[in-house]
Amino acid sequence: MTRLGVNIDHIATIRNARGSTHPDPLVAAKSVIKFGANSVTIHLREDRRHIRDNDVIKICKNKKIPVNLEISLNNRILKIALKNKPNFICLVPENRKEITTEGGLNLFKYKNKVKQIILKFKIKKIRTSIFIDPNVKDVLMASDVKADCIELHTGKISNLIKQKKPYVHELKKIKKCCILAKKIGLEVHAGHGLDYKTSKILSKIKEIEEFNIGHFIIGESIFYGLKNIIKKFKRIIY
Ligand code: PXP
Repeated sequence: MTRLGVNIDHIATIRNARGSTHPDPLVAAKSVIKFGANSVTIHLREDRRHIRDNDVIKICKNKKIPVNLEISLNNRILKIALKNKPNFICLVPENRKEITTEGGLNLFKYKNKVKQIILKFKIKKIRTSIFIDPNVKDVLMASDVKADCIELHTGKISNLIKQKKPYVHELKKIKKCCILAKKIGLEVHAGHGLDYKTSKILSKIKEIEEFNIGHFIIGESIFYGLKNIIKKFKRIIY
């Protein structure tokens, strides 16, 4: 069965808007799992714009919550991740000026560093994933650095679908990467910019074992409730 990971960064965004403690990302993490999600994703950014160190500590401490922690290659963030032992780790690029994670990790530039980081998590038996653009070269590189999984950046296809532009070329590219990844022993995840329609289209690719969705789920939950939205996404992706 395809898994659903829910990114709750934007619960922290709302909390931080008032510099207060509500809504609490820990409560969101517990709720998301109670409502049927398979894991919770949090991204500890270098600029701490949403999730903060204390959120990571509290959420990772609760062993009933399967946590997927997104981190950049920054050494300080890496130390925090290793100390808090999330269940899963996803390496992402980070750029101060970006609104969100705008592309996949540049594995050609950071190959050795990524390899070393992955080894550190493997020693702690933490599943590793790399957020990459859907290119064959990146898939092969992810295998070279011994990642367990790849997460394919679905931002481009999501934008094309939302703008009602032709998307079949991008879909074929994603499918090709999924087939190759599976063949060479990488587990395939997908995420970024996904909504009902884009998830439905991508769910036809059977090699994708996990979807990580954040902004749309949290936004839709304002109108229909987290429980209903998670149920709806589970029906879409299974
Ligand atoms: N996967 C990764 C690796 C991400 O960086 C993000 C955005 O933080 C997501 C999934 C979720 O993207 P969205 O919030 O657009 O659903």
